[in-house]
Amino acid sequence: MRIPIEQAATLLKSGKVVAVPTETVYGLGAALDCPSAIEQIFILKGRPSNNPLIVHVAEAEVVQGYVSSFPEGFMTLAKAHWPGPMTLVLEVQIEKVPAIVRAGLPTAAFRVPRHATAQRLLQMTGPLVMPSANLSGTPSSTRVEHVEADFGHDFPVLEGSGAFAGLESTILIYVEGRWQIIRQGALPPSAFEKVLGYAPSLRGIESNVAPLCPGQLFRHYAPKAQLKLSKTCRLAEGEIILGYRDRVYPSSNRILSLGRSTDPHEIAENLYATLRSLDTLEADSALVDVDLPLEGLYATILERLYKAAQQKKEIQ
Ligand code: TXA
Ligand code: MG
Repeated sequence: MRIPIEQAATLLKSGKVVAVPTETVYGLGAALDCPSAIEQIFILKGRPSNNPLIVHVAEAEVVQGYVSSFPEGFMTLAKAHWPGPMTLVLEVQIEKVPAIVRAGLPTAAFRVPRHATAQRLLQMTGPLVMPSANLSGTPSSTRVEHVEADFGHDFPVLEGSGAFAGLESTILIYVEGRWQIIRQGALPPSAFEKVLGYAPSLRGIESNVAPLCPGQLFRHYAPKAQLKLSKTCRLAEGEIILGYRDRVYPSSNRILSLGRSTDPHEIAENLYATLRSLDTLEADSALVDVDLPLEGLYATILERLYKAAQQKKEIQ
């Protein structure tokens, strides 16, 4: 159920959960000072309690009220990418951020969204925690219909145009004297290299180090269908193929287009909607053409596909 911004603000302030469009994916919002609404988020999503939430604020200055120390480069990053699809994990004064939000960690994740409606809402409500608005483990929501499919038609969704990147924010943490990426996202490493003078490494993603981002431990972004990632599409007989409209596939197959293979932004925007459409089609399996360069935004797209397929490096 689409609701106007005044109603969304009133509901949030009275301890209710509301879905909110952002420039990455839809979020499931609750007021930071309302523990019962935050608990409700975990229940609605079926989210493990050891997976912490991102605190969304209207501007970088608000973060100062919660943080215990600012690592080197914080202001540089904030000035360059806030508002925008960047999340920073910072040490906090633990009495200021409820333990349920932090999953008991001494840190909390912060983001200033750029989406105009989300911005206006945050100015009306104050800080909101917002995980992606999907059932835990399934693809994030990039359209109102996705939120409604997961939480029902009566669920309140703040109306607003969906200018979506289609991929979640990039999450960084400062460890061992450097910013490191703990979740790849809508901003590629090069976006940070320009402002920090070095490219943040991908921590616990490509290495065997335990991830600092609890969410990386869980099954993610997955439709019900088993995805088979392939660079050749040779195994494709009779199967649905997730492919690109500038490529040619066997005519016997049903093709779901992710966009043009040369345009990673278009692929990102379509990715979760296409994965979700496999569920609508009640497909048992699908082949995904992953013959894409492993760079920039493509790297995030491929990471999401590996996770959705629960597959590591066995690409054919
Ligand atoms: O683009 C986004 O980031 C979207 C929109 C709605 O803002 N939100 C989002 O939230 O993707 P969620 O809950 O689906 O993913 C947040 C990730 C999880 O993997 C969680 O483990 C990690 O952030 N996270 C949150 N707090 C953390 C912390 N203190 N330390 C490390 N990782 C943290
Ligand atoms: Mg999520």
